[in-house]
Amino acid sequence: TSFQPYTIDSQTYAVDSYSNTPSNIISKLPRHLHLTPNHPLSIIRQSIEGHFGPTFTPVTPKSAVVSVAQNFDELGFPADHPGRSITDSYYLNSQYMLRTHTSAHEVETYRIGLDRWLLTADVYRRDEIDGTHYPVFHQMEGTQVWPSSELSKLPQLNDELAAKLASCSLVIEDPTTISPSNPYQTSHDPVHAEQIAQHLKHSLNSLIFHLFGPIATAHGEPLRIRWIEAFFPFTTPSYEVEIWWNGEWLELLGCGVVMQKTLDQAGQSHKSGWAFGLGLERLAMVLFSIPDIRLFWSQDPRFLSQFSSGDVRTTFKPYSKYPVNLKDMSFWIAQGKGQSQSQSQSQQSQSQSQLQSQSEAQTQTQRQAIETPAETSKDIKEWHENDFCEIVRDVAGDLVETVTMIDQFTHPKTGRQSKTYRINYRSMDRSLPNNEVNALQEQISRRVVEDMGVEMR
Ligand code: PHE
Repeated sequence: TSFQPYTIDSQTYAVDSYSNTPSNIISKLPRHLHLTPNHPLSIIRQSIEGHFGPTFTPVTPKSAVVSVAQNFDELGFPADHPGRSITDSYYLNSQYMLRTHTSAHEVETYRIGLDRWLLTADVYRRDEIDGTHYPVFHQMEGTQVWPSSELSKLPQLNDELAAKLASCSLVIEDPTTISPSNPYQTSHDPVHAEQIAQHLKHSLNSLIFHLFGPIATAHGEPLRIRWIEAFFPFTTPSYEVEIWWNGEWLELLGCGVVMQKTLDQAGQSHKSGWAFGLGLERLAMVLFSIPDIRLFWSQDPRFLSQFSSGDVRTTFKPYSKYPVNLKDMSFWIAQGKGQSQSQSQSQQSQSQSQLQSQSEAQTQTQRQAIETPAETSKDIKEWHENDFCEIVRDVAGDLVETVTMIDQFTHPKTGRQSKTYRINYRSMDRSLPNNEVNALQEQISRRVVEDMGVEMR
């Protein structure tokens, strides 16, 4: 498939070998679910904004299009970071892309001079297809910074927050202090850095208790929160935060002490502080018991009418599930050059990387080399599962519930690789006639042959 120049918010973007954003993704740009009244994502946003109070400014970025510099370079992502790959991100061209995380707006928002803000936006990542992955989802970036002259207030602010938390039924596991792998920045006074990290921890423990505490403690149990050492190129020390929910640890957000370089680029060198990024879909799915991420995009009143602004205690009642229609597809994949490990690693890197964190899985692979976009250009046709899923979404959109590889083998003589995928068709609002599903399956099969050079078995 070749792409036409993109026109978004009356800006035109020329196409080049990086362009990989299909029209079904572009069509999501005007939806703004997080700003839609009575939408569950908007309710969560408002609940968090309400918790932080009026001293935090809500921010809505103008466009989902950012420069590659904003999304990656300014934040210190290395040149070989897997997130940069055209198999993982949506590019308009080599200079512009759809943001993959709200951190892309950190520098410009600090530049305005705001010290406390909550920025909410839709973010875009190429990914697999299942009940918890969708190529568009929503994040909130929150941050608080202080001019150096005000850092002396931190001990008192921390005491006040600690006193409030003492009355919450919480069990906090926080074994990670500072380690060689999660250091303070050398430009920071270690005492201040420690106090900023404390303030971050108190603030987020308090937010999480605000969201989950009432449900958890209704069962007579304290809410369990766990802090884990993490890595992000734009914060250090960095953490991931999980809660104990339905018998397992559930990751909610990534955060850390803002890299001074970020504030320097925003002309705010005299300030320091913390930032977090969280995924709204994951919060909403857990809090409202929403079983499938596609439902957020549904216009069906049976979904939307169940939620109302200000009410964070709704439990979604699923309406009748229509029958599923399974179709399998088997093919020999084209043997591109370098049918190598790097792509399967890159595939693994995304398998769990979605609901919010750009880096939660990618950090594991960040030191491994990836194919550069130039090498994966069209004529080489290297197999990548995200490309297959992209075609499935392009043809069948939200009628596909999951795409799963159910079999693969290598022919012992020819060395060719076969893969079998099972596509699970189900509409959320109607019963799908078999002939409609067959037509979709045929169209997908044709596109996979044309665009990816596979041979059907
Ligand atoms: N942007 C990060 C992500 O998407 C989350 C994050 C935000 C981490 C701010 C640290 C600070 O994974």
